[in-house]
Order: sequence, then C-alpha cells, then structure tokens
Amino acid sequence: MDEISSIKTAFSEALASAAMLDGIERLRIQYLGRNGALTAILRALKDLPEQERKIRGDAANRLRAYVEDALHEKRAELERTTREGILVKERLDVTRPGLVRKRGHLHPVTQITREVIAIFAGLGFAVAEGPEVETEYYNFDALNIPADHPARDMWDTFWIKSPKGDVKTENVKRKSERLLLRTHTSPVQIRYMESHQPPIRIIVPGTVYRYEATDASHEIQFAQVEGLFADSDVSVAHFKAVIGEFFARLFTPDTVVRLRPSYFPFTEPSFEMDISCTYCSAKGCSVCKQSGWLEIGGAGMVHPHVFKAIGYNPKDVRPVRSKSPTATAVPTKSGRTSNGVQGFAFGMGLTRLALMKYKIPDIRLFNSGDLRFLKQF
Ligand code: DAH
Repeated sequence: MDEISSIKTAFSEALASAAMLDGIERLRIQYLGRNGALTAILRALKDLPEQERKIRGDAANRLRAYVEDALHEKRAELERTTREGILVKERLDVTRPGLVRKRGHLHPVTQITREVIAIFAGLGFAVAEGPEVETEYYNFDALNIPADHPARDMWDTFWIKSPKGDVKTENVKRKSERLLLRTHTSPVQIRYMESHQPPIRIIVPGTVYRYEATDASHEIQFAQVEGLFADSDVSVAHFKAVIGEFFARLFTPDTVVRLRPSYFPFTEPSFEMDISCTYCSAKGCSVCKQSGWLEIGGAGMVHPHVFKAIGYNPKDVRPVRSKSPTATAVPTKSGRTSNGVQGFAFGMGLTRLALMKYKIPDIRLFNSGDLRFLKQF
C-alpha cells in the first residue's frame, strides 16, 4: 500500500509541475503505458492471494482512475491556457492608427521642370540636353559673343582650369576649348543645330552657373529652360503665340505676356519677356514692385551670325552645312518665296518660375536641403 501511495505522491508532484502538453503525454506513458509503474502493479495482482489482491486491486484501480482523471483535466486546462495565451499574444488592435511610411518626393524645381516639359510637348517641342561643363566656343563664340565683346559682362563666368593649360583663343578660326560652367542653356541651341536640320522645335531644361553674390533672388546655380524654333518664315508673331499659350497653361488663362525691346548678341531683334504679376493678378504688389509685371526671361529672333556659325545658310529654306550650288530659295507651302531659315529663341529661369508658381520668398531655400521647406511641396 505504501508503494501505491508513493506512486500517487510522485505522480501528483510531476503533474503539478507539467507545463506543456507533451509533458502530460510523457506522464501518461510513465504511469499508464505498457511499462508504466501503475501497469506493473495491476499486472502483478493476479499472482497475489485473494484477500490481498482485492484490497490492493481496489487501491490500484482507484489510483488508475485518479491518474486518468487528473491527466484529462490537466490536459484540458493546458489546452485552454495555451489557446488563451495565443489569443492574447496575437491580438490585433484594428482601431490603432497606422504607421505613416516616410516617402520622398520630387524637388519643387524638378516638379516645375516636368510641368514645363509637358506643356511644351503639347505644343510640339522635344527636349534636348547638353553638358554643364561647356567650352567657350559653345557658351559664347558661336552665340555671337566674341571674347573682346562687352556683352560677355552679361554673364559672370566660372572658368575651369584645364589640365593642359588654357587653350588660346587668338586664332578665331579655331573653336575655343577653354572650359567653363555654362552660364546659360543657350549653347545647346548650337549643339542641337549642328546635328539637326530645320524644322527644329526644342526646349532645353538644365542647370546653369553664375559667378555672382547670392541674395534672396540670386544663386550661383539655378535652372533655366531654353527654347528654339527654327524653320522657314518664322516671325515674332509665332513666338508670341507659343509663349502666350505656354504661360496661359502654366499659370492661368488670363496671364498676359509683354515683350520689351532689349539686347542679346544671339538674337535680333531681342526682347525682355514680362508676364502679368501672378501674385496680385497685375494689380500691383510688393513682388512686382507695384508695376503689375514680372520679368521672366529673354527672347528674340535668332541672329543670322548664329545660323552661320553652325553652317546653316540663313538665306536658304533647305539649310546646308556645306556650300551647295543648289542652295537657293524655294517657294514655301503658302506659295511665297521663303526668306530662308529663321527662328525664334527664348530663355527663362526655371527656378524663377518655381519661385513664382509656389510663391517662395527666397531662392536660396531651393538648395538649402532644409526638409521643413522641401516637405511643403
Ligand atoms: N541666355 C540668356 C540668359 O541667360 C537668355 C536668353 C535670351 C535666351 C534671349 C535666349 C534668347 O534664347 O533668345 O541671359
């Protein structure tokens, strides 16, 4: 009888400390399995004298019932608590606000550049590009701005030291390869015309550099967009139509463009472009200095010297790079004799357009890397 009660004690202790379902199964095998402690006692009953067998059998059977019940109960309890544990652990609060993922976005100047490209694409213009490290020839000479011309002062230039030393420009026949950071996007006009024949309709968005003191409206690095339209019989009227449509689409349909006489070496005639003030709808405000107008860029009819520099014959409707004996004026579709290759060109600050469109008070904010500024766009 001592044996039976010590089995019961051992079993109860083991059961109390079992914390997993497989521990319970191990206990079942240990006590009730084929080689189990209790099974051995039950199996040995048949060899006992009747009197003893009855008493011991009773006790052993009670213990078996006790073990079975206890195992059953413990198993049920563990199953319940593990399920509850999982439910608590994996509980999902669907009412909790979600985590906002941090996303980057396009810089405001990139945004306006894409908008400008889309508008001009709708007007039939393709996008051309050129290098930011440019040669003196493309940035100046080919644009009718010779080295000794006072117009060079219009562009304060970052010159780049060439490892080979400065290439001398005394020989005017040679294309100067002195390097600089392009001061405007106009050199791409030359590069494009060197490899394409009219009709030409391109815009050139890109970064330009000026060796200048910086303030709220001047930066040493900013973005411009150039335009070039070359064909036969092109006039200022065509330019006004294109640029008027462009600003109407970029700002509001009632935006007015004004051209004032000006001077650029690569255009004749040349204009300064103004648009009606987008801040005050031309009523007069501090941004337009009460004038109702905002300066937006330069423009003009491409100077014949520019066409000559790239080998077009400005008198010929079918421009040729080499002098061809067949290069004579031919009638246009309208039946009139062509005036040869003509074109209009324009250039304006994309950064300045972004300033105006988003009403930004200081141009230096664009390259400040200040997220408090950038996040607003
Ligand atoms: N390149 C000039 C500048 O940066 C702007 C300009 C004026 C471009 C007249 C043109 C033009 O194409 O025709 O100051």
